[in-house]
Amino acid sequence: MDNRPVGVYDSGLGGLTVWREIRRQWPEESLIYLGDGKNCPYGARPAEEIRQLADEAVEKLVAMGCKMVVVACNTATAAAIEFLRAKYNTLPIVGMEPAVKPASLHTRTGVIGVLATARSLDGDLFRRTAARYGADIRVLTAVGEGFVELVEANREHTREAFDTVRRILDPMIEGGADQIVLGCTHYPFLLPVFERIVAGRGVTIVDPSPAVARRVGQLLDQNDLHAEPGHTPYCDFITFADEEYRKRLEYKAFEQDENIAGETH
Ligand code: DGL
Repeated sequence: MDNRPVGVYDSGLGGLTVWREIRRQWPEESLIYLGDGKNCPYGARPAEEIRQLADEAVEKLVAMGCKMVVVACNTATAAAIEFLRAKYNTLPIVGMEPAVKPASLHTRTGVIGVLATARSLDGDLFRRTAARYGADIRVLTAVGEGFVELVEANREHTREAFDTVRRILDPMIEGGADQIVLGCTHYPFLLPVFERIVAGRGVTIVDPSPAVARRVGQLLDQNDLHAEPGHTPYCDFITFADEEYRKRLEYKAFEQDENIAGETH
């Protein structure tokens, strides 16, 4: 048993989609969310630069007493996960994996689409995952050009968001993809737009965050790190940007919570 917090890190607001799932599945765990904000977006930065930013972030979370870190960013996972696991070798670290496996198991057309940032798609992690699970199917990939910026600017419910997503999604669907993997943690914030675009077209959108939260639970089990039953958790939000951005993280996190409450009651 261990009541120390779990650290959750992303380039910005996107990792809150994973934070939300961790909270849902493990409500007794305290969480410290670090949304860089100052250097977002990471998507087109060189891998070496992302490694340095991820190192700084994990160092900060460890200094704040985290018992585990979730790299809730596909781009940082692709660029830095091996480096981080080697450097912080006693710390359990969970990364994001592109959900090619579940998509390839469920496709009926034999074609899946993967949306992610440029750095995620050209990384070894994606290449290996696609080769392993996507060997017998066609994997179409596209960079979600402009998606992260829309979410960071809080413009995900606009006409502009609809047009931006449709421009990228339509060619995948026309190419036969019936499973579309969200390979960037910012993209689930655009789910209502995705759902409108795919409505009636036999396409499923795959969000890997519930599976990542389950993996967090497995690692808590294996390392005997779960918080005590009945522990009252806290949630903190930190950033490398300014106080205004920190408040936005907090607001966005609990705004989602209200939406979830609205959905389930
Ligand atoms: N949320 C991030 C990801 O999952 C990165 C977005 C960005 O900073 O470009 O890839």
